[in-house]
Amino acid sequence: MAENARLETKLISVDPLSPSLREIQLAAKLIRQGEVIAFPTETVYGLGADATNALAVRKIFEAKNRPQDNPIIVHVASIDQAKQCVVEFPPLALQLAERFWPGPLTFVLPRSEYVSSEVTKNLDTVAIRMPAHQVALSLIEQSGVPIAAPSANLSGKPSPTKAIHVMQDLNGRIPLVLDGGSTLVGVESTVISLIHDPPILLRPGGITLEELQAIIPEIVVPPDFSSDQPISPGMKYKHYSPETKLVVILDGKDKPVAQIDSIGRANGGQPLILCTNPRHRHDLMSILVGKTPKEIQANFFSSLRILDEASYDVGIFEGITFEGAGLAVMNRALKAAHDIIE
Ligand code: TXA
Ligand code: MG
Repeated sequence: MAENARLETKLISVDPLSPSLREIQLAAKLIRQGEVIAFPTETVYGLGADATNALAVRKIFEAKNRPQDNPIIVHVASIDQAKQCVVEFPPLALQLAERFWPGPLTFVLPRSEYVSSEVTKNLDTVAIRMPAHQVALSLIEQSGVPIAAPSANLSGKPSPTKAIHVMQDLNGRIPLVLDGGSTLVGVESTVISLIHDPPILLRPGGITLEELQAIIPEIVVPPDFSSDQPISPGMKYKHYSPETKLVVILDGKDKPVAQIDSIGRANGGQPLILCTNPRHRHDLMSILVGKTPKEIQANFFSSLRILDEASYDVGIFEGITFEGAGLAVMNRALKAAHDIIE
């Protein structure tokens, strides 16, 4: 850690659609040398290292202060590379990969010896995905190895959707950040366990539950993610949280403006309304996070960071539907929340 804190972090721009090989090769060289670098994916920025190199993977945990028991997702550039990382790639995995890869869907499968046990800690399973981003895919190809990468934030902070967010959290801790602009999806990938039959939804994300149900109607959805049972705030430890207090108003999008503003005032200090209804006219300071669940999803994490940057005292998020992209947004919002109001 002390050693990492002295690094000079280079920030290099890359074209997100057709990155020049020169920049990618610079990053790939660092990966092959066992270093940790940040790069864009379609979901959020990742903090990547060679998934087959135990020492390199350990540096990821150090750089972001990640709890030692939290396993990391392995990113691949082809189905053949995914197959190398697992003991068995079942027909359902192939069917899902053909439909959703490259894209924001991660499978948990039995881990092969090729992947370092540092990636998955003591689990005999591994989470794998193929990102839908030219920078990420090209980086994996040029590195010649699968890349283990959690989100490139300090543990507990909102996930980074812009390179500047990565710099805010990790400047001085890693040698390189590839800046490919804003990520399009804005929340992390959907994680499902294919170890279980029927498969289990482990984390809602960029691929919606409805899209998955079209292929796996029997997928098991733990009660925490079901729309008719609002999630309790993360009691064990806070995730994705701004420093600023965040209040989530369930269905706030459809509640009267006066009610939302009075909740904002009741919290004291300078509130910022994270508005999700373009027809709302607030008396208090507000920003429109987005007009549709997809747009709100794309902007959600960066709107949490605005709360801290501008030193507001409280953020009031107008909760949205639990359907479609709303499920991932509300999952992140409720995990980040200090207070939830029905
Ligand atoms: O979109 C994403 O998934 C981003 C980008 C960078 O690809 N990555 C990401 O990684 O969100 P991370 O580390 O922040 O989240 C990984 C999630 C965690 O919830 C972790 O517990 C779960 O995947 N996970 C990883 N390996 C697992 C395994 N073997 N079994 C069960 N869950 C696993
Ligand atoms: Mg994360």
